[in-house]
Amino acid sequence: MTSLTQMACEVLTCADGREKTALSHAHAARWREMRAEGAGREAVGRGAPPDRPARPARPELVDPRDVPRRKPGSPDGRIAMLHAVAHIELNAVDLHWDMVARFGHLDFPPGFHDDWVQAADEESKHFNLICDCLEAMGSHYGALPAHAGMWRAAEDTMDDIMGRLAVVPMVLEARGLDVTPGMIEIFRRAGAKDAVAALEVIYGEEVTHVAYGSKWFHFLCGRGNLDPTPTFHDLVRRYFLGALKPPFNVEKRADAGLPPDFYWPLAEGADR
Ligand SMILES: [Fe+2]
Ligand SMILES: [Fe+2]
Repeated sequence: MTSLTQMACEVLTCADGREKTALSHAHAARWREMRAEGAGREAVGRGAPPDRPARPARPELVDPRDVPRRKPGSPDGRIAMLHAVAHIELNAVDLHWDMVARFGHLDFPPGFHDDWVQAADEESKHFNLICDCLEAMGSHYGALPAHAGMWRAAEDTMDDIMGRLAVVPMVLEARGLDVTPGMIEIFRRAGAKDAVAALEVIYGEEVTHVAYGSKWFHFLCGRGNLDPTPTFHDLVRRYFLGALKPPFNVEKRADAGLPPDFYWPLAEGADR
């Protein structure tokens, strides 16, 4: 029987975006079946995920300063924006499977695996929704250069599950909650209905990804008898370069289990 870790490694070592996300979806469905049949910890298995996930030959990965910026009001600007979102979603697929493969052997209740498999499955859907929009606009994922530094957060927290939870779902994915409403507005003004619908699906589901992060972070704090707020601040200062950028989506962050005293002290202008 294929273990969950083996399934995760198959996704991580698949390079093509559409193939990777199809595999991610199929493996998530298989895991749900296995769980319904009574699979538990023994089905997680152990394995060695690759240091870096396989990626397609295109897009070319460049320093973020060299990712072309175009006016958000132009069709090219909207394509560039969606291309950046597709790149983030593909990276997120790998981040969630890496969470399972790298940390799944630690002593967690099975809900830990269920949550990250669910998140990976949703990121796969997000990638495909955005790719469909790009293709309908005459472009595709790979047509433009993309940010080379996306795997940095994973590399920096390879040995630290609490650091990984703090930086990936609770900082990076929470940032998505802050910026997505503005993006939806840009596409709404342009009459781009498909892109608005895709971004609304993403916006709704990303709240749960941040919530999974907060839930498992608090679980580990509770088990280790650690005070969650200063522990979070220490980890973000250690692993995340730079300050968090306001304005924050206070309401959605609260829905996801992130109270203001978690992020305000790390914000630009606060005395870090
Ligand atoms: Fe996503
Ligand atoms: Fe996400």
